[in-house]
Amino acid sequence: MTTTPQRTPAALDTATRTRPSRAAARALTGEDPALRGAYRVCRRVTRVHDPAIYALVQLMPAVLRPACWALLAAASVLDDLADEPDVEPAERAARVEAWTGALQQDLAAGASTDPIRYALVDTAGRWRLDLTSLQGAMARTRADAHGLRFADWAAWRAWCNKEIVPWVDQVRHLFEQAGAPMTLRLDRQADYEHFVDGAQLTDVLTDLSTDLAQGLLLLPQEALEPFPGAEGDLLQGRWSPPVAALITELTALARQRVTRPAMTRGMHPGAGIVLDTAASLMRAQLDAIDAAGPTLLTRPPRLSLVARARVLAPARLRSSMAWSLTPLTMPGAPRPAVTANLPSPAARDSGLRPPPPHPSGARPPQIAADRMPTHVAVIMDGNGRWAEQRGLSRSEGHRAGTAAAHDIVYGALEIGLRHLTLYAFSTENWKRNTEEVTAILAGLQKELDEDPFRDLDVRHRWSGRPDGLPEELVQALVRLERRTSNRTALTLTACINYGGRHEMTQTAAALLQAAREGDVDPRLLSEADFARHLPHPDMPDVDLLWRPGDEQRTSNFLPWHAAYAELYFTPGHWPDMDRRDLWQAITEYGRRQRRHGAVPAPLTSPEKHHSPPSCPT
Ligand code: IPE
Ligand code: IPE
Ligand code: MG
Repeated sequence: MTTTPQRTPAALDTATRTRPSRAAARALTGEDPALRGAYRVCRRVTRVHDPAIYALVQLMPAVLRPACWALLAAASVLDDLADEPDVEPAERAARVEAWTGALQQDLAAGASTDPIRYALVDTAGRWRLDLTSLQGAMARTRADAHGLRFADWAAWRAWCNKEIVPWVDQVRHLFEQAGAPMTLRLDRQADYEHFVDGAQLTDVLTDLSTDLAQGLLLLPQEALEPFPGAEGDLLQGRWSPPVAALITELTALARQRVTRPAMTRGMHPGAGIVLDTAASLMRAQLDAIDAAGPTLLTRPPRLSLVARARVLAPARLRSSMAWSLTPLTMPGAPRPAVTANLPSPAARDSGLRPPPPHPSGARPPQIAADRMPTHVAVIMDGNGRWAEQRGLSRSEGHRAGTAAAHDIVYGALEIGLRHLTLYAFSTENWKRNTEEVTAILAGLQKELDEDPFRDLDVRHRWSGRPDGLPEELVQALVRLERRTSNRTALTLTACINYGGRHEMTQTAAALLQAAREGDVDPRLLSEADFARHLPHPDMPDVDLLWRPGDEQRTSNFLPWHAAYAELYFTPGHWPDMDRRDLWQAITEYGRRQRRHGAVPAPLTSPEKHHSPPSCPT
């Protein structure tokens, strides 16, 4: 393979709307034979690696297929490198790392001598894919799974999600770029998560024999425990009654998980057909797993051609109808500067910078680790009064409040806070006049567009309701969350269109649904079950809830998480706050004695009276 520089037909220099056609797809690879060959390799690898996935790609418009092949072929190669039998786990991990490192260099060069990477480089540039979110998935190798135990479904899900969701998100991004968004209504998020679970479980069951041959059993303990003896039998390759019962239970669970008819409502019909067909293929695959019996432990069951055709033939008809009605956006010429797309862990870390210092030169106080809060939540109040006192419009107050928030984030990073949650717009704030609401939302959109923390180690999250918010804002929030998901220093959650009671209501709805599906028994419902069904189950409890602005109420903010928070109310208005006020709040927290309902141990020796108050956590 040569590294011929890419030539792009002039006609493709700007994005164009066109009906999906094979000619358009061919034009995408231009005159460059090396590139055409590279995409051909990707197509072949996809077909050989997973014929069912290949068939699903064939349901997509022709213009999208080469990009899908490139992504899927890359995923397959990494999967193979990570799974290679008879190779030591450390060596497998090194091979994955080498492939990923080479991709990084190829992205910088805009070409590659490896066909799959060449096609992926072209795809990333052409469709403006941000491959950052693949970082975690690429670094993750099956070798990691050696010795990995999943205590429960939650741990299993977290592991699987890191592997599969970033790739699915890339495909969703492609659809979005093409103008046929595979939009996931945010109120269908739970359906999506279940679907991903079901897909992954189907995959694990299909590959059971291959994994077992390597001593891997990629199922959670929680699933194995009700079937005593099944784990040992499986690891010894023995088909027994508990193994048979376990498999029946798991295929039923996977079938239920992939059956999510509501998930595709509101999507482009073509995208919906692709997902519905994926679900039908998985159900057929699960039938094959059930029918396999003891052979499940010796070879992966494959769908018969007839079973596959029964699903795919009608889907082909429906999808070609759906796409023929849709003009799609063809991407412009590939942008060469895609090096920032996939930083290696080292490059990524060195690309991040520390926050700018405070103009006064102030440095954070030294806080003992056991006095440091994990999670500080802030009600950023007083913007309006700050502005009114200065004869300015309330919008000016919100603008000044944004600048204060920047400095607080810098201060949070400097002091080493792990979680900072900022209340920016409440579900009650819609009661304000349209002009003010519009100004607040426009200010938030501007923040997202400018992304002031892009070079900082900040992982963004959003908590709140999508309804009522501009679609552009919602998409930008989701994108930012996705793009920064690998960052680790500070998790910054923006509460936008957030209401605590709504969050509780949503959680109750999720629990009811889980009870209906048999995942939760209402008679045994625990606080932990409730917490697991919150929209952000991984958000830790709030240790310190700070409200500047001279009001002493919590205004529907984080009722679950802040149930035992230390409250700290201060008189100054939010735009006057900076990182030093955050550090002061944290210092004050360190002086508090948190009892959580217990009686503190009596102070016995005189020296103890001089020691600081007991641990605040
Ligand atoms: C907080 O400041 C910001 C938002 C609620 C969006 P306010 O706008 O509530 O300011 P005051 O309380 O009226 O001064
Ligand atoms: C709470 O402040 C909401 C935000 C800071 C985003 P408000 O100013 O809206 O709350 P109330 O009206 O004082 O309760
Ligand atoms: Mg207020």
